[in-house]
Amino acid sequence: MKILLRPVQISDLFALQLLEKKVFGENFSNSVFEVSKKTEDWLGYIAIIKIKFFGFYKHKIIGFIKMSNILDEFHIDSFGVDPLFRRISIGELLLVVSLIKSIEIGSKICTLEVRKSNFNAQNLYSKYKFQTKGIRKNYYSINRENALIMTAQDINSDEYLRFLFKQIKKMNLEYTTQSCYYYKIPSATVILRRIISLFNNRFG
Ligand SMILES: CC(C)(COP(=O)(O)OP(=O)(O)OC[C@H]1O[C@@H](n2cnc3c(N)ncnc32)[C@H](O)[C@@H]1OP(=O)(O)O)[C@@H](O)C(=O)NCCC(=O)NCCS
Repeated sequence: MKILLRPVQISDLFALQLLEKKVFGENFSNSVFEVSKKTEDWLGYIAIIKIKFFGFYKHKIIGFIKMSNILDEFHIDSFGVDPLFRRISIGELLLVVSLIKSIEIGSKICTLEVRKSNFNAQNLYSKYKFQTKGIRKNYYSINRENALIMTAQDINSDEYLRFLFKQIKKMNLEYTTQSCYYYKIPSATVILRRIISLFNNRFG
């Protein structure tokens, strides 16, 4: 099974707005992609899977990350993976390719807000050396939950770059052209991860 990671194009925005609702469920308020239509100072990556359906191939967007860049600071505005395709490294891949892109354009710091209760996302950010730097009280319009401010410092340092490239090698991420990447994922891994996540959801 192959996953393509490529920069967002204007023609993706409608599908992305639908995916945002699916990803955030009851926590969904406003689409970041709707607002983004008007601006040019943002970047985004999507993950696309090619699925065979009754003999025809269909391309489906299964994850996204949207970021903006202010001077040497890179901010992750929104990020998510289709619930049906979680726990197969799509989120990690999107984070890695966007970090690489941000370093390419001169960022030194990456920062974001995450719900205090969102341990899954916090685990992913910690894996990529983000640390909690503060709290934004009542940050989310829905349920007024606090946000943790998580930051990765010196992402352009040799040490961090070495770490990123080690992760890329481990994941067999393949660079193609024009900032696009391919990720080959063994079907057995997908099936196994899906069984584990269904089991966790039911009994965890
Ligand atoms: C957070 C999210 C993007 C992770 O995407 P994903 O593709 O499922 O994650 P991955 O398979 O790439 O996992 C990468 C790492 O994330 C962490 N993680 C992800 N899901 C986890 C879970 N259910 N339990 C514990 N850790 C989890 C782990 O550290 C994992 O590394 P590991 O495989 O070495 O344990 C996804 O759960 C999601 O879309 N959540 C809803 C939206 C959201 O929370 N967005 C972030 C807003 S700040």
